[in-house]
Amino acid sequence: MIILSIDTSCDETACAITEGRKVLSNVIYSQVLIHKKWGGVVPSLAKRAHEERIDFVVQECIRKYQKPIESIDYFAVTQGPGLAMALEVGMRKAKELSAKYHKKIIPVNHLEGHIYSSFVQNSQGNPKRDFSFPYLALIISGSHTDIVLMKDHITYEILGEKIDDAAGEALDKAARMLGFGYPGGAVIERLAQEVKNIDEYHFPRPMLYSKNLQFSFSGLKTSLFYFLKKVPEEEKFSKMKEIASSFQEAVFDTIIKKTGDAMKKTGIHNIVVGGGVIANRYLRNKFRKLVRKHDGTILFPSYPYLTGDNAAMIGVAAYFKAEKGIFVEDVETFDRIPRFPLTV
Ligand code: KG4
Ligand code: ZN
Repeated sequence: MIILSIDTSCDETACAITEGRKVLSNVIYSQVLIHKKWGGVVPSLAKRAHEERIDFVVQECIRKYQKPIESIDYFAVTQGPGLAMALEVGMRKAKELSAKYHKKIIPVNHLEGHIYSSFVQNSQGNPKRDFSFPYLALIISGSHTDIVLMKDHITYEILGEKIDDAAGEALDKAARMLGFGYPGGAVIERLAQEVKNIDEYHFPRPMLYSKNLQFSFSGLKTSLFYFLKKVPEEEKFSKMKEIASSFQEAVFDTIIKKTGDAMKKTGIHNIVVGGGVIANRYLRNKFRKLVRKHDGTILFPSYPYLTGDNAAMIGVAAYFKAEKGIFVEDVETFDRIPRFPLTV
């Protein structure tokens, strides 16, 4: 089953051609340089950039695939969640292709794409990893922090989610307060690597002792804000790395503790993690330590491009949806869902 997938949910214009879990062709056009100077993604600029690039990105993906587009069985597209104006561009393109080539569309939730990103294989079918349900799936990105119970393919139960800022968003906002650019997660990781005392300032761990599995990072952001107001300027500069590291530690400690709680609560010890923040090697090691303690297993996306937004993960999720017979029934009324819950 060969699927051409499109994702334009945020600031990457992405197209991929997949066969089952194998990626045959993949193109990602990042808009990060456009949004950098604004300190975050500007929806109207994202829309325009997607519109300018979508045809080229799809064409380039087909060119790299080196076979005629007629050999593609289905089109898949991210329906949400994401920026309404941005989603619209990918949806329109998928509809156009579906009408032109008389192939069905598979609707995909962006979050299921992030969950399936750990199962994406290269064109040689590597890594081989098989599924071993049930999983606790974590999505840790710039817009989401979710713990999801997955008993089988394409079945999701949300156990915990963010109630305000997402983990990546908190890191980005902290980076901005410290005077670094957008996005900030990777900058904070780099600075933290140079620090001896990784938790010198010990910022509060949000909701760590609450019994539920919800995440809240906005209070932590506020505590950094007030801390920076009262700390002497010289200390702010001489201890910039320690401050960044302590902030990162508070965010990651919370994620690890809540994941541990979810493991205890469900008895499930197989973890799969997706989303931009899991590019962070230090966080990966924290997760590895946690599952070792519980005799569990852990999977991360195998290739760096799979942590951020891409269409290959959408194609792999789409494959398992198509196996279950999930297709768009009426293309005319098929519309984007900017706040698309994983469970509908
Ligand atoms: O999944 P993603 O590309 O976009 C969303 O769907 O939100 O995630 C972007 C987020 C940003 O907040 C960025 O700061 C964070 O992922 N990120 C990182 C790292 N690389 C990207 N956070 C921590 N460490 C990193 N190395
Ligand atoms: Zn994403």
